[in-house]
Amino acid sequence: MDLGLTGRVAVVTGGGGAIGRETARLMAAEGASVALLDRNPDAAAEAKAALEEAVPGATVHAAACDITDKDAVAAGFADVAAALGGIDILVNNAGFSRDMYMLKMQDEDWDIVHNTVLKGTFHCCRAVLPGMMERNWGRIVNISSMAAQGTKGQTNYSSAKAGLLGLTNALAREAGAFNITVNAVAPGLIATPRLRARKDFDKLEAKSKGLTPLPRLGETTDVAKVVLFYASTMADFISAQCIEVTGGR
Ligand SMILES: NC(=O)c1ccc[n+]([C@@H]2O[C@H](COP(=O)([O-])OP(=O)(O)OC[C@H]3O[C@@H](n4cnc5c(N)ncnc54)[C@H](O)[C@@H]3O)[C@@H](O)[C@H]2O)c1
Repeated sequence: MDLGLTGRVAVVTGGGGAIGRETARLMAAEGASVALLDRNPDAAAEAKAALEEAVPGATVHAAACDITDKDAVAAGFADVAAALGGIDILVNNAGFSRDMYMLKMQDEDWDIVHNTVLKGTFHCCRAVLPGMMERNWGRIVNISSMAAQGTKGQTNYSSAKAGLLGLTNALAREAGAFNITVNAVAPGLIATPRLRARKDFDKLEAKSKGLTPLPRLGETTDVAKVVLFYASTMADFISAQCIEVTGGR
């Protein structure tokens, strides 16, 4: 089935990371040109090389871009448009947690998580919206988290990821008249290389399996497939939604 991604231009923020890479791989395999933007230039370059090997002939752009920096986002997205053409698909994937119980949390830990997850997404959406509106087509996918429901030790991350759902729903209503859909994915625990490297990985995996109807951890491709779905023609009439990729947890 043709998913309608051939010739589309997609930006994946945090494209040097685990879920970003897999998302970019699936998009490229469906014929989209892909830009990997990451604050870590080495990760972006490495992801580009891996993607070009995995999908021969793929058009891949990789660049350093810190999404908390409004000017860097404007410049980085303008470079993508110059290199690949107008941006059709934006995957707001860059993010991380800084866990601590609230009374011990430093202001910096609150600010950096919110500035990345929420304000960074605001910057990126603003960078792509004018072009999408002009072309009357756009797909924005925000990577939230199961933690949006509230996780102990994650008041900063949970509130930022919950805020992302509010942003998704509000922007979907603003942008829908321009044939732009805005949706979210809320992954549960995903077995990324970073998670697998943790000393307590076996314990975490066992605990998670016990709590999950589908008794396994998520894989990056489980998340990427939902992003691909939202960007594809199969989701042309779907907006302001969040799909949980948690194995039913
Ligand atoms: N891995 C999980 O279990 C899980 C679960 C739920 C949600 N998520 C979310 O999925 C997304 C990807 O997670 P991942 O596991 O692939 O993490 P990851 O650490 O492998 O990748 C995240 C990438 O984002 C980049 N990044 C961080 N801050 C940035 C900034 N300011 N500007 C640009 N790039 C920045 C990092 O350099 C990194 O390459 C995150 O938003 C995360 O919160 C992950």
